[in-house]
Amino acid sequence: MGTYDLVVKGGSVVTPSDVFEADIGVRAGRIAAIGADLRGERVLDAQGLLVLPGGVDSHCHIEQLQEGGGADEESWTTGSTSALAGGTTSVITFSTQFKGGDILAPLAEYRRRAAKAMVDYGFHQIITDASDEVIFRQVPEVVAAGVRSLKVFLTYDPLHLDDRQFLRVLAAARRTGALVTVHCENYEAIRWRTAALLADGRTAPKYHAWSRPPMIEREAAHRAIALAEMVDQPIQIFHVSCPEVAEEIARAQARGLKVWGETCPQYFVLTAADMDRPGFEGAKFMCSPAPRDAAASEGLWELVRRGTLDIVSSDHSGWSYDTPVGKKVNGADANFRDIPNGVPGLAARLPLLFSEGVTKGRIDLPTFARLTAYNPARLFGLHPRKGTIAPGADADLVLWDAKKQVTLSNALMQHVIDYTPYEGMEVTGWPVATVRRGEIVMQDGKVQAEPGSGTFLARAPYEMIRPTGRLPDGFDASSFLV
Ligand code: URP
Ligand code: ZN
Ligand code: ZN
Repeated sequence: MGTYDLVVKGGSVVTPSDVFEADIGVRAGRIAAIGADLRGERVLDAQGLLVLPGGVDSHCHIEQLQEGGGADEESWTTGSTSALAGGTTSVITFSTQFKGGDILAPLAEYRRRAAKAMVDYGFHQIITDASDEVIFRQVPEVVAAGVRSLKVFLTYDPLHLDDRQFLRVLAAARRTGALVTVHCENYEAIRWRTAALLADGRTAPKYHAWSRPPMIEREAAHRAIALAEMVDQPIQIFHVSCPEVAEEIARAQARGLKVWGETCPQYFVLTAADMDRPGFEGAKFMCSPAPRDAAASEGLWELVRRGTLDIVSSDHSGWSYDTPVGKKVNGADANFRDIPNGVPGLAARLPLLFSEGVTKGRIDLPTFARLTAYNPARLFGLHPRKGTIAPGADADLVLWDAKKQVTLSNALMQHVIDYTPYEGMEVTGWPVATVRRGEIVMQDGKVQAEPGSGTFLARAPYEMIRPTGRLPDGFDASSFLV
């Protein structure tokens, strides 16, 4: 058995299926043994603590390129720091396409920037313009390079795809062996309702929620599922905000379709009422889809327990409140349509989900491990290397104090964004150390990792996202380059 490089000693190990007392022996960055009385060159005392799989955040926006040059405020350095502080060791972020442009040049630039990462990382490829060049020539190249998921927006100017373009992306994914992730909201309905709200002088942040009620999210989810079913292409519906959208996913799953659903902590703890805070403050809580109400949040928990929604990501999309490039980029009195969407949440994801989920008795520990690490690793082709605690897996671990009570503050988030929407919230359960591939990269809130020590996670073909083979009339339209 010998001595290990590192032994995590005496903790309660939480796997996607079990909780048991054990030591974990790490060699060359991987878990080499799980057992009793292991000896190591270095020992990390986990007595009285949980040992969880390092978080896998499969949906977060870090240093995403912006049209016209530059990138999001959250850099790979600050984003990695925040992730590690919150117990997340792997992320999947977004390489963009700008309408009329290609996807190869932005991906090369994005990879160059990500070389500073301190977490392990993969990318989704956003498609905003399904041109022949991109769909027939560039998507196969990008997917072969390990970017094995495409992201489409069914709303947002100037990102949204119409149904025909969406079908072309689904078909390209089917031909190349990629998953498609979908932002589901009805573009035209939002535009129409927004115009009416603005015509009526309803410009404040709270009207963001009025512009996009649940049925426009449900309609888009239903349509995305129907089109994906016609193409026989697996999809994941991003950031489900309410039970009626999750019910669409449940119906698809009951029909045997490969449709998965993700939700985010903001939909458990924020509501539309947060956007009605005095003055411009409501902008801090604006994201799309919009947070709903307490009943919707409770309903989402039920859909999580049933397994309909099986991933909780952060959708970290940081826009500072008081910088010229953030929420006030169009002025401190901008109407809701002109305020950037998104809330930061990389570091808050695990503590919020643990506190609201495990501490309050809504889910058990293995479910927590599945929602935050195992399921995203499996769905995005990172398992068995990531997402679990098992011999051979990367030694990505979080030592967790289940009893620690913390009042959330922006300083604790360690991101570059100048606020957190969770300021002042009380949580019970907190990460006290993070281990990434056997290296202790966070202890008691202090993150210590080399910029560039994160690795790119090229994703190879995997079984879970293979099409079912069931096609209407048995006709595979995706095999034609149309
Ligand atoms: O409001 C959100 N969710 N912003 C981030 C971009 C996206 O739609 O995922
Ligand atoms: Zn989205
Ligand atoms: Zn997002």
